[in-house]
Amino acid sequence: MPRPAKQSPVRKAVFPVGGLGTRFLPATKALPKEMLPVVDKPLIQYAVEEARAAGVEEFIFVTGRGKSAIEDHFDHSWELQESLTARGKQAELAEIQSWLPAPGQVAYTRQQEPLGLGHAVWCARHLVGDEPFAVLLADDLVLSETPCLAQMAKVYGRVGGNLVAVMDVPREQTGRYGILDVVQDDGRLAEAKGLVEKPRPEKAPSTLSIIGRYILRPEVFAELDRREKGAGGEVQLTDAMARTIGRIPFHGLRFEGRRFDCGSKAGFLEANIAFALDRPDLGAEMSEILGRYKDALEKA
Ligand code: G1P
Repeated sequence: MPRPAKQSPVRKAVFPVGGLGTRFLPATKALPKEMLPVVDKPLIQYAVEEARAAGVEEFIFVTGRGKSAIEDHFDHSWELQESLTARGKQAELAEIQSWLPAPGQVAYTRQQEPLGLGHAVWCARHLVGDEPFAVLLADDLVLSETPCLAQMAKVYGRVGGNLVAVMDVPREQTGRYGILDVVQDDGRLAEAKGLVEKPRPEKAPSTLSIIGRYILRPEVFAELDRREKGAGGEVQLTDAMARTIGRIPFHGLRFEGRRFDCGSKAGFLEANIAFALDRPDLGAEMSEILGRYKDALEKA
């Protein structure tokens, strides 16, 4: 795993991985959607490595039924290790061991009912305790030089409060995101005076949208305790964060990098292309392959 940042303000990260992944059926019938690979690595591993690179030391997964492949992925695999050793495959052996969390660094808790993202995060309250924590949604994948959460941790050291990653989206897409009601904006960091979960385009206070990276104060748990239902009849993290504004500063960081919505088929396919092109061992071959589709693209 990448080396942790020095003195990160955030030691714990929550990964809500209880969702069903119906958009990727039949692939996700028996496979958790977070285990879908981009190139050769499951989505959830990108998220865990990103948290680690930002200095996170404790990884809290909020899981659900049928998600045991995620637990197995972050555990030793004796059969595989023994068979790689026996065959002298040292590089492969070192690779699968390099990113494994140390014993006791991972915790799993179950979200027993699908009551929304806010409820999933609330399920981790005892494991997080009374300290700032990160939330990473594995569906949102960011390709960048400095990992997205590490960019945020740096800014968090300066602004504190609650901080989310944001990007501008076309107005017709506001209904897919949590949207900031912006009060101040320097082009990189925006301060919000309110938040709305999935507003219709004509009702959206801006087009600045939350993507799945959060650094949150533990006070958000007190708001989630109310288990109030919001958009879509679900307990929304956005609503809980919105209720802390006024007491706790709220900022959105326009991170550097490209974000892929791996919760959608097109976004997931694009992520595979972009990550493959970015890989030293695959980039040239991939670009040659894509070149073969030039004619087809021109005709389309
Ligand atoms: C969740 C959040 C939303 C955020 C989005 C980012 O929505 O509720 O505020 O903008 O993630 O991907 P979901 O995509 O789970 O519906």
